[in-house]
Amino acid sequence: KFSNQSVGLIYSRCHSVIPPPRDNDEKEMLDRMLRVDHAGEYGANRIYAGQMAILRRSQTGPLIQEMWNQEKKHLERFNEILAENRVRPTALLPLWNIAGFVLGASTALLGKEGAMACTVAVEESITEHYNSQIRTLMEKDPERYTEFLQVIKEFRDDEMEHHDTGLEHDAESIPGYWLLKTAIQLGCKVAISVSQRI
Ligand SMILES: [Fe+2]
Ligand SMILES: [Fe+2]
Repeated sequence: KFSNQSVGLIYSRCHSVIPPPRDNDEKEMLDRMLRVDHAGEYGANRIYAGQMAILRRSQTGPLIQEMWNQEKKHLERFNEILAENRVRPTALLPLWNIAGFVLGASTALLGKEGAMACTVAVEESITEHYNSQIRTLMEKDPERYTEFLQVIKEFRDDEMEHHDTGLEHDAESIPGYWLLKTAIQLGCKVAISVSQRI
C-alpha cells in the first residue's frame, strides 16, 4: 500500500512539464523545441563563462556573475527536462562550447561595453526565440502545454532582464555597436536553426 504522500512523490518524479506525446508529429515538435532551448541555455552559459574569464576581477564581474547564475539554473532545468523525456541534446554542443566561450571572451576584451553589447544581442535573440515558441504552443493547445509554457515564460522574463541590464550598462556606447549586434544576432539565428535539427 502506498500512502498519499508516496503516490505524490512517485507522480512528481515521473511527471515532466512536457505532456506524454500523442503522436509522432507532436513528439518531433517538442523534441526540436527542447533541443534548441537546451542548446541556447548551454551557449549562454559558455558566453558568460567567456566574459568572466576576462572581466572577473573588474567592477562588472559581480553583475555578470549574477546573470550567469541564472543561466546555470536555466540549463539545469533543461538538462532535467531533456533527461525526463529522453530527448538527446544537439550534436553541436562541443561547437557551442567553444563558440560561446570565444564570443563571450572576445567581446569582453573590447571592454565592459563590448561584453554588454554581446549580452544585449544574444538575450534579445533568445527572448524573441522564446516568444515565438510561446506563440506556437498557445496556438496549438495552451491547456496541454501549460506547465511547459510556464517554464519558458519565466526564462523569457529572465532573458529580457539580462537584455535590459546590458542596455543599462552602456552596451550602446561601444563603437560599431550596430554592426557587432547585427553580426552576433546573425550567428544566433544560424545556431538556433541548426540546433533544432542536428
Ligand atoms: Fe537563459
Ligand atoms: Fe539570459
